[in-house]
Amino acid sequence: MILENKLNITDQAELAREEEKISKTCAKKMFETGYLNTLEPGTFETLRKIHKYLFEGIYEFAGNLRKVNIAKGNFRFTPLTYLEEAVKNIEKMPQSTYEQIIEKYVEMNIAHPFREGNGRSTRIWLDLILKKELNLVVDWSKVDKTDYLLAMERSPIKDTEIKELLKQSLTDKIDNREIYMKGIDNSYLYEGYLSFKTDEL
Ligand SMILES: Nc1ncnc2c1ncn2[C@@H]1O[C@H](COP(=O)(O)OP(=O)(O)O)[C@@H](O)[C@H]1O
Ligand SMILES: [Mg+2]
Repeated sequence: MILENKLNITDQAELAREEEKISKTCAKKMFETGYLNTLEPGTFETLRKIHKYLFEGIYEFAGNLRKVNIAKGNFRFTPLTYLEEAVKNIEKMPQSTYEQIIEKYVEMNIAHPFREGNGRSTRIWLDLILKKELNLVVDWSKVDKTDYLLAMERSPIKDTEIKELLKQSLTDKIDNREIYMKGIDNSYLYEGYLSFKTDEL
């Protein structure tokens, strides 16, 4: 299975490479132009804009809610029927404390609003909230990738592991571009399996 893309690439490895390159360039631009700082932390609209900015050159669906049900491993993300309502409710969740912010992040991951690229766009979204509310961001270079993935897989059931893990890596270097960019490093190992459509199963 390979996602339809604007580059007309039909090879999965090549698509992954190009996608990484383009989305990183866009992420850098989003930071350097100051665009990120114009976005309101914690809203779905902000997540939508981040996703659109990163993936517009690659996918038609950039910035749009997905139109299929998806799963990763054994976990099925929020069913399409509830997706719109879910993101509306999630953006209303409080974000004053570290615990509340991570709980909101975990819920947004469970919603997985987009067909692809949720991990990268939602980590940037998370950092924007942490920055505004706590004057901190996650130094993703300090987060062990395997531990992160295991904690995220576990998070729909219990969020203590992801809370612990990210707490250890908080930093007050909130305007450091290298630290920001570490959040969108992408590799198969890092992000787990490709999401698969569950509609025709
Ligand atoms: N089994 C799982 N259950 C819940 N969340 C998961 C699971 N596997 C991966 N994730 C989360 O999904 C993210 C990857 O989603 P994806 O849409 O592929 O984004 P990206 O393409 O940016 O990596 C991971 O970063 C992780 O947070
Ligand atoms: Mg992915």
